[in-house]
Amino acid sequence: MDLGSLQLSAETADLKRSVMRDLLSLAVDPEIISLAGGLPASELLPVKALRRSFESVLARDARRSLQYSPPFGPLQSWIAQWMTGRGVSCDPEQVFITNGGQQGLAILSRLFLARGQPAVIEAITFTGIQQVTAGRGASVRTIPTNLIDGADMQAFEAALAEEPRPALAVLIPDFHNPLGVSLSSEKRALAAQLAARYQVPLIEDDPYSALRFAGEFCPPIKAHDQAGFVFYVGSFSKMVAPAMRLGWIVASPALLPQITVLRESLDIESSALIQRVIADFLESGSLEPHLQQLNQANHQRCLALLEALERHLGDVATWTQPEGGLFVWVTLMPEIDAWRLFPRAVEAKVAYIPGSAFAVNGGHHNTMRLNFSNLAPEKIQLGIRRLAAVVRQAV
Ligand SMILES: Cc1ncc(COP(=O)(O)O)c(C=O)c1O
Repeated sequence: MDLGSLQLSAETADLKRSVMRDLLSLAVDPEIISLAGGLPASELLPVKALRRSFESVLARDARRSLQYSPPFGPLQSWIAQWMTGRGVSCDPEQVFITNGGQQGLAILSRLFLARGQPAVIEAITFTGIQQVTAGRGASVRTIPTNLIDGADMQAFEAALAEEPRPALAVLIPDFHNPLGVSLSSEKRALAAQLAARYQVPLIEDDPYSALRFAGEFCPPIKAHDQAGFVFYVGSFSKMVAPAMRLGWIVASPALLPQITVLRESLDIESSALIQRVIADFLESGSLEPHLQQLNQANHQRCLALLEALERHLGDVATWTQPEGGLFVWVTLMPEIDAWRLFPRAVEAKVAYIPGSAFAVNGGHHNTMRLNFSNLAPEKIQLGIRRLAAVVRQAV
């Protein structure tokens, strides 16, 4: 529809079309091997266990499950205990249930950040983080991310210290989207200290940490937070299933009234049914075996991708070495433009996301994000063979 004389609000006036959606819709041809998405493996979604939980909740508690209702206490308790086991001791009341991690980001952004205020984000970051900062009219200060140990803490400190002080900062600590890298333990401790020293609320956006398939568990930034400046955002999307649309925020108790009111302005509350189903799934011990199976498959798929990259693109590209999550970040020779290459890749029946789609300040034309979680290893190998042929034509 032509907007004609419709006036958009200040917050939406600058919003652009989602490039990512356009790219993903290009890759729906079943012949195309899509390394573009960010989906967990469809065939590994815990269908049986979720069906059991749906049936059991509806048999036990249908009326309350289908009503408006306050946050489901047993779910908050399970999450609080899980977070405590991961080094973030918190009470169930501090766990605010959301409809996915993105809603957590949107709520916290509205809580702290007004149009025109500075926000600190990584120069290459998940588009949903760009939407709740730059997309809401913030003046963003970007920091580089080291491809071995995560966000550059010197740049982070400089960005926090600059006047006017930023109203918000956001980091992705584990298996970064799109970079695949994780923030080192030392940097996590430092990030929490810096947020407290400069009194800047720091969102720790963590949908991926349960998807570790190699290396050692590393406690979240929030585990180092003495002063209450770190706001942890979790999600069941990748751990269980994206369509459950359930996540959580761990926040200081003092802010819960404001968070609750802000959230009510968006969609009132999370589904009582879905909260009970997820709680049943968790309490019946279904998470652990599911994660084991999922992470084992992701590991094999990631190895298949890394081996194929080595074999077919080893002389013209470098890439990150993720220990979990869903993505590998590939850097090609500087003269290669992944956007320009994209139509030829689609013709050759392979798709990826050009890295510049994640670059807040533009640039990074010679990069791409590859997903390994939603394809069998043979498909991944074939996809990289096709991709390599297209890249080689361009060299
Ligand atoms: C880094 C990051 N944060 C947040 C989200 C939001 O996920 P959801 O709203 O499904 O929990 C995603 C989804 O891909 C993501 O990659």
